[in-house]
Amino acid sequence: MFDHLKSLAAAVRDRRIEDLMEGGRAEDFSIRLGEMLLDYSKTNIDGETRDALIALLDEAGVAEKRAAMFGGAPINETEGRAVLHTALRNLDGGPVEVGGRDVMPGVLEILDRMEGFARAVRDGSFAGPGGPITDVVNIGIGGSDLGPKMGAIALAPYHDGPRCHFVSNVDPADIAGVLRGCDPARTLVIVASKTFTTIETMTNARTAKAWMAEAVEDPGAQFAALSTDLEKTGAFGIDPSRVFGFEDWVGGRYSMWGPIGLSLMIAVGPEAFRAFLRGGQAMDRHFVSAGWRDNMPAMLALVGIWHRQVLGHPTRAVLPYDQRLARLPAYLQQLEMESNGKRVSMDGAALEVESGPIVWGEPGTNGQHAFYQLIHQGTQVVPCEFLVAARGHEDDLHHQHRLLVANCLAQSEALMKGRTLDEARQKVAGRFEGAELERQAAHRVFPGNRPSTTLAYPQLTPEILGMIVALYEHRVFVEGAVLGINSYDQWGVELGKELATALQPVVEGTEDAAGKDGSTAGLVGFLRAAGL
Ligand code: F6P
Repeated sequence: MFDHLKSLAAAVRDRRIEDLMEGGRAEDFSIRLGEMLLDYSKTNIDGETRDALIALLDEAGVAEKRAAMFGGAPINETEGRAVLHTALRNLDGGPVEVGGRDVMPGVLEILDRMEGFARAVRDGSFAGPGGPITDVVNIGIGGSDLGPKMGAIALAPYHDGPRCHFVSNVDPADIAGVLRGCDPARTLVIVASKTFTTIETMTNARTAKAWMAEAVEDPGAQFAALSTDLEKTGAFGIDPSRVFGFEDWVGGRYSMWGPIGLSLMIAVGPEAFRAFLRGGQAMDRHFVSAGWRDNMPAMLALVGIWHRQVLGHPTRAVLPYDQRLARLPAYLQQLEMESNGKRVSMDGAALEVESGPIVWGEPGTNGQHAFYQLIHQGTQVVPCEFLVAARGHEDDLHHQHRLLVANCLAQSEALMKGRTLDEARQKVAGRFEGAELERQAAHRVFPGNRPSTTLAYPQLTPEILGMIVALYEHRVFVEGAVLGINSYDQWGVELGKELATALQPVVEGTEDAAGKDGSTAGLVGFLRAAGL
């Protein structure tokens, strides 16, 4: 499937991206959507490569697969489920059918209930025995944590509701640290778990309930649940009026648009949350209607495929020059790696190409003083994805924001241009001579020709955040569709869960480690002797 592209890549292997940068390239290799701009001109993709990449979409039937997803077909074939997180932001988009049933009335009804509850928490009409709610603790993990947490940090300037905390790790340090700062009589605990069985979440939920029970008469009254399993939430003692359900066609890592976003909605208010949904919906509309060449998610996906499957770069770095997107790389790690980190294609046959890349990153400028050294001079190429806003929210500190933007643009320029040996010699000339000059100059060479994309937008508003998240979701869809894999299951997390359950009695000392491999048995022995 990638043979033609690989031969195109081989032919231009030594070409400098910089040399392509003439005439109208920047415009031609950019996509504008509303107030957002994706610039992928600092990659080694030319017109011919782009056509060949776009041909992949037709070869893989991406348009048909897209229609199947939006049409409610069970495209998550290993679990027999539709994939319809887009319905959660389909505010005024008409009916969406799953198995002949329009799911929109249910979606809008839950949204309405969430808004009613969020307003009540925010205006104090829902209160604890000690008074209005001051702290909301969201207990969840994976998709039931990363989305609302990333969103709450991103939208901090819009945060005018109670304080929000996120507990995910089963490590007691996590919940203990959060509860220590909360008044149980004025805290709302939201148990966010699609399945309501995830051991980390249920363990933390029980700990929170016991903590609350020590201080208030009816702890269950200060709990809400976000789950598809209404029976289990009932058994936990949460009144159905505070249970916000969703259906199995919302995958965990795609779920922040619905009930899983409740803590974010309480933080920023229903209006801002709706603006976030509208941003997502705008990206959906663009994704289904724009031609491939002007289609932001599709082209971002093709840039990813070019770098990973064609050129073989194993990772990609997400580098937001936007401090409030600090958790975006973590969010995208789950979104992209849990979706496209698969070894077989939909029919179960071994994948003949590489699966999705390793995704990592940190906000700039911090990363510049940490790992950019390797990005600039390491022996492996790391395609970089920059994100940057024209304005921050700190108008009085706009001069600092300008410095941030200058750094962002300078990095992509430096990655592309690099510094030649001659330029490096000039840098050290006068300080060194002869062999020492050569030696010193060699350390100061930057190979350059390192690709990057930049996503630029006016300001990180709720609407822009919605566009960004939906952009990446559809990018994951397109990459998965081209690779022919199921982006919507996650069997790879199961084995560890099963073995952890089996190991618990061994760790507790009620079973011995016989039958375990030598390393595992040895580690259990060491940790038990050391106080486990
Ligand atoms: O273990 C992986 C996973 O299933 C993720 O896909 C999901 O986001 C997370 O666990 C949490 O699941 P739940 O919401 O059911 O607790």
